[in-house]
Formats: sequence, structure tokens, C-alpha cells
Amino acid sequence: MRRKKVVVTGGAGFIGSNLSAELCKDNEVTIVDNFSTGKESNIKDLIGSGSVRVLRGSVTDLEAMKAAFKGADYVFHQAAVPSVPRSVSDPIKTNDAGVTGTLTVLIAARDSGVEKVVFASSSSVYGETATLPKREDMECRPMSPYAVTKLAGEHYCRVFNELYGLGTVALRYFNVYGPMQDPRSEYAAVVPRFIDCALRGEAFPINGDGLQSRDFTFVKDVVRANLLAAESKATGVYNIGAGRRTTVIELAKTISEVLGLEMRAIHLPPRPGDVRDSWADIMKAKRDLGFVPAFSLKEGIAKTVEWFKRQKNLVG
Ligand SMILES: NC(=O)c1ccc[n+]([C@@H]2O[C@H](COP(=O)([O-])OP(=O)(O)OC[C@H]3O[C@@H](n4cnc5c(N)ncnc54)[C@H](O)[C@@H]3O)[C@@H](O)[C@H]2O)c1
Repeated sequence: MRRKKVVVTGGAGFIGSNLSAELCKDNEVTIVDNFSTGKESNIKDLIGSGSVRVLRGSVTDLEAMKAAFKGADYVFHQAAVPSVPRSVSDPIKTNDAGVTGTLTVLIAARDSGVEKVVFASSSSVYGETATLPKREDMECRPMSPYAVTKLAGEHYCRVFNELYGLGTVALRYFNVYGPMQDPRSEYAAVVPRFIDCALRGEAFPINGDGLQSRDFTFVKDVVRANLLAAESKATGVYNIGAGRRTTVIELAKTISEVLGLEMRAIHLPPRPGDVRDSWADIMKAKRDLGFVPAFSLKEGIAKTVEWFKRQKNLVG
């Protein structure tokens, strides 16, 4: 993508900052973020080089979004309260950002003449499915308030496309990991939590028996999927994953291998609202978007570990 005006909501977050860094190379980028989970440190290099405009505000603020989207070609809508357990304990906050926020973004995009909104949806919309891998035509049965907000966001995207002709596409991300992901929050995802523990010499905290599986997807693949989706004619929903399934124990082993450590684990109770297995069928994204993941789990983990080590050296 070149010489476009783009907006990244949630651009100071993990995926948003990786996406903004790529877009900045050849495009004019505006980041909108309320810095609830996003961090200035994620985008400090971009701010320092003067290659982004940063607007501090909420995606629920319609006037602010209309101002932010003025003249934009594409909006990459990443902002959300992105945690299953957080949504179980505080569903209203998750709903505000996820449903009201997404509706506001769509209205502002429609009224500002934006060509396309690319919406960050989630594999959690499926819930447990009888068969794997999960395909876009399977019935969705969300198991958490977070997943409900993502499914509602997808429907709003479709309705805005059908009613108002706004270009929309929803990408169902499967367990994204990579540089810039927060390892320390109470709601940290499993990859950064495990890498952080391993670098501190601690055992991996495994929820449940560790045989639950996920489709771990390297963030650079997700960034590429966003760019492909924006410039394609595609609308509707697309799985974005690595297209392979890994158990949590296998993940712990891979991280240990990359770090050259013996694997040690402690087992904790399973987390409520979590699905047992997740695995993406990515044929539709391949066919319509030309999306093919480029990173194996080991390559992605090695790159992520490298980044974590660099951060440790900078701090220590
Ligand atoms: N990380 C994953 O594995 C994964 C999987 C599926 C879907 N997603 C989705 O991808 C998107 C990005 O997730 P992430 O992992 O980078 O999380 P993140 O918490 O790092 O990023 C979310 C960003 O949104 C911002 N934000 C939250 N509420 C906002 C509001 N009301 N207004 C403006 N900004 C707001 C936060 O400050 C943060 O910068 C989210 O929509 C998430 O639901 C992520």
C-alpha cells in the first residue's frame, strides 16, 4: 500500500502499533487511541520520526472520529478491550468499546467518505465448534461477552456495507503474538506471559491440562492480512491464522527450545469463558485476499524472544 491516508484505531496497542509501523513506511498514518491498554512506548519511534499523527481519544466519540477520519482512504479498526477474562468480570466496559465503539467508527467512516473499514474481529466468535479447523460458514456461538461484541461488530460491518455501501471487511484473528505484546498485565496472553516467565527463570503457568490448542499467529502475518484486505474487493468475514494447531504444552516446549532451557510448568485452574480448541481454516483468505502466512511457529517465537531480550537489556 502506498500514498494512502489511513487511520489505525487502537494504534498504540500491540497489533495496532505493528500495523502502524508498517503503514508508516509509505502512507500518511493517524493513530487514534485512548491509551487504556495501549502504550506510548509502542509508538515512540514512530512519534520520534514524525511519521504519525496521534490523536488521544475514544472511538466512542463520534465528533472526534469524524475529525480523525477526514480525507482518510482506509480505517484499520483495532481498538477494543481485548480480553475474554476482563469481559467476564466487566462486560459493560467491553461492550462500550467493542459495540458502541465499532458502531461509532462505522458511522464516522460512512460520513467521512472512507473507502473501507478493516475490522479486527476474533476467532472467539465461533465458541466451541463440533469440527476443526474452524471455517467461516460454521455457526457462531460466542462464549464470552468479548466474543459477543466481536460478532456484533461483524454484523454492523455487514449492515453498513449493505445499507450504505461502505466498504467493510472483518478479519477473525486467531491468537496473535509478537513484539510489543504486553507480558505483565493481569490479562496477558499466553505467548508473552510464557516468554517473560522463561526469561526470569520461572516455570510456565499452564491453565488446565495444557492440552487445549490454539492457532498461534505471528503479528507480521496479521499486518499483511490487513493490508491485503484493505486493497482487495473482499467484504464479509475472513479467518486470519497460521492454519495450524498447537497445544499450550507444545508452545511451552517450543519457547524452551528457542531459549535452550529445560521446560518447567505449574498447572493452574482452567479459565472461564475460554474455548478448548482453536484452529483456523484459512482457505477463504488465501483465495480472496491472497493471504499465505509466512512465519512458522518457531520463526515467530524466535523473533518475539529476540525482541523481549532487547527490551530486557534496554531496561536492565
Ligand atoms: N491479540 C490477539 O490475539 C487478538 C486476537 C483476536 C482479536 N484481537 C483484536 O485485535 C485488536 C487489537 O488487539 P491487541 O492484542 O493489539 O490489544 P491491545 O490491548 O494491545 O490493543 C487495543 C488498543 O485499543 C485501545 N483502546 C481500547 N479502548 C479504546 C477506545 N475506547 N478508544 C480508543 N482506543 C481504545 C487500547 O488503548 C489499545 O491501544 C483488538 O480489537 C482485539 O480484540 C486480538
